[in-house]
Amino acid sequence: MDTLLQQIELYKQEIESIKPNGPESLESYRIKFLGTKGIVKNLFAELKNVPADKKREFGQILNEFKQLAESKYESWKEATSQASITSHEKTVDLSLPGDALPLGSHHPITLVRNEIVSIFGRLGFSVAEGPEIEDDWHNFTALNLPEDHPARDMQDTFYIHQNPDWLLRTHTSSVQARVMESQKPPIRIICPGRVYRNETISARAHCFFHQTEGLYVDENVSFADLKQTLYFFVQEMFGKDVKVRFRPSYFPFTEPSAEMDINCRICGGSGCNVCKHTGWVEILGSGMVHPKMLENFKIDPNKYTGFAFGMGIERICQLKYRINDLRLYSQNDLRFLDQFISAV
Ligand code: DAH
Repeated sequence: MDTLLQQIELYKQEIESIKPNGPESLESYRIKFLGTKGIVKNLFAELKNVPADKKREFGQILNEFKQLAESKYESWKEATSQASITSHEKTVDLSLPGDALPLGSHHPITLVRNEIVSIFGRLGFSVAEGPEIEDDWHNFTALNLPEDHPARDMQDTFYIHQNPDWLLRTHTSSVQARVMESQKPPIRIICPGRVYRNETISARAHCFFHQTEGLYVDENVSFADLKQTLYFFVQEMFGKDVKVRFRPSYFPFTEPSAEMDINCRICGGSGCNVCKHTGWVEILGSGMVHPKMLENFKIDPNKYTGFAFGMGIERICQLKYRINDLRLYSQNDLRFLDQFISAV
């Protein structure tokens, strides 16, 4: 038994002196001391050879030795896993900023459209939408533009071969017609959307572009309401210093009708090719909803009045961001698009 005790002493010294320095040496320690054929197991096997009166004492020494071997193993295991985390952290610097992802930006037309929606939203206008493939009734006839009406020529229409009644809407006024067909006053809507005209593409014209229509029908709506609403709009869009003028005009769906100009935001009024050297740029058409239009939709023109307006979003965008060529909007050139950072 004495030799066994001496052996145990030596093993203890060995345990105290070794320091596993990684998962592999830790594992060989475990196998050597704690494995199924390891030192602890073998020592316990010796118990049967120990004289009966010493068994108790030897058993106790063995248990203590086993606990020492195990507790060393546990604390080294803990230390090794900590060490592997720290060595990982050394190769990956967690405090570094992440890789920047290329962020897209809103298209300028979207930015201006959203701003228009937001400005009119503050006046209680909500958004209405309609189809881009329209029928003759909603795009023309219901808007007081019967067949053979000369004003139809103002809008070079794309017709759809399969059905002569179908066309690509030439203006968002078609949504006015759809809203009046399905809603009763009070109506207060704006209708932003894409429209199409058979135009040759150039810096000043395109075969598709965007408009926003506005419509307000209720009791006692007056031309003064129209002017004030549009005045509020341009001030919000272009700033308080904007100058405005209304010119009498003609649209079949409004009576009286007016076009609204603002002072040129590009040259500041001194004259440039955008304002054709007049200092003024037309931004929208408007007027009081024609009583015949109201009748078309069974809205009593003796009880209700309304105003309507329609503006081109590209034009607003041109004046706001000084864009001199309409084609830029649809060329998908990132050098152009990247310049518009959304405030949203
Ligand atoms: N639809 C007209 C156009 O495309 C614009 C317009 C003018 C709309 C007067 C209106 C309006 O609602 O009242 O040129």
